[in-house]
Amino acid sequence: MRCLVTGAAGFIGSHLCERLLADGHAVVGVDAFTNYYARSLKERNLARCRDHAAFALRELDLADGAPPDLLDGVEIVFHLAAMPGLVRSWTHFDDYNRCNVVATHRLLEGLKGSKTLKKLVYASTSSVYGRYASGDESLPTKPSSPYGITKLAGEQLCRVYADEFGVPNVVLRFFSVYGPRQRPDMGLNHFIDAILNGKPIRLTGDGMHVRGNTFVHDCVDAVVKSTAALPGETFNLGGGELITVIEAIRKIERLSGKAAIIERHPPRNGDQLATGADVGKLFRHLGWKPTTSMDDGLAQQIEWQKSVGVSA
Ligand SMILES: NC(=O)c1ccc[n+]([C@@H]2O[C@H](COP(=O)([O-])OP(=O)(O)OC[C@H]3O[C@@H](n4cnc5c(N)ncnc54)[C@H](O)[C@@H]3O)[C@@H](O)[C@H]2O)c1
Repeated sequence: MRCLVTGAAGFIGSHLCERLLADGHAVVGVDAFTNYYARSLKERNLARCRDHAAFALRELDLADGAPPDLLDGVEIVFHLAAMPGLVRSWTHFDDYNRCNVVATHRLLEGLKGSKTLKKLVYASTSSVYGRYASGDESLPTKPSSPYGITKLAGEQLCRVYADEFGVPNVVLRFFSVYGPRQRPDMGLNHFIDAILNGKPIRLTGDGMHVRGNTFVHDCVDAVVKSTAALPGETFNLGGGELITVIEAIRKIERLSGKAAIIERHPPRNGDQLATGADVGKLFRHLGWKPTTSMDDGLAQQIEWQKSVGVSA
């Protein structure tokens, strides 16, 4: 199949491209190389795809519009491009609006009337639920940050373009994803980097926040399976072990054989207090379950961070 992956140079997008190529699909990747984190890290994410004959990269900003030739003949669109992370969304609202709302709108406009499109998969987030994202898809959406608000707006755009213009889509609400290539702003990357390199961990809040972490290969597997879902469905994509932030730090200490230096800081505005996906619907509809234990997944992320050195 001919697939388009937006956000292809990102953490999850690059793993998804590799999986699709391994499955024998032709993949066009789109990325604007936004400055949320260093371009060099995104180039490194893409290294394996670049060598593949069935892969092509288009460097462009979707908020400027999706060129028609980009979408010609595309059967599946995986829309992962976004400005992620909630902290910066308080101070850089326009960037979040541009990358999460405007870019999604332009992509949907481009797909209107497509004769080849079978499915658009929209990568949403547990942040649409707000402070307590624990439960199934019937939880009320009450985002507690501009990030969550803009991602929810993207979901709503997908729904409207399905209802009014027949753009078939599925929404996946990702919960915290981890593994090799995890973004440098994310908690586990920061903790591993600090522990491996003898730096203090900036721990915001009391460390008792609960997180359900999903290993990136499990996440990508669900993304691929979701192409078979009924259009118009929304799924939580998470699962995996529920552990507190402090427990995660203790696990990293044990797996790396090094001690953490913890520096306490006040909680941040909009922080999610508990995330834990009920993924029963993904299992019932698509037979998906996460299979990687937190110990295995963290060990892989630690090995990767050792191999690439200090985070940017
Ligand atoms: N990583 C997680 O734990 C997590 C959790 C919930 C939701 N998500 C969602 O998953 C998706 C991927 O997240 P990630 O962690 O891989 O992030 P990432 O920042 O590593 O990847 C996103 C990529 O999108 C690109 N991009 C942003 N705006 C663009 C635009 N306007 N045009 C073209 N490219 C653009 C960026 O350059 C980046 O490479 C995002 O939609 C995010 O909201 C991720």
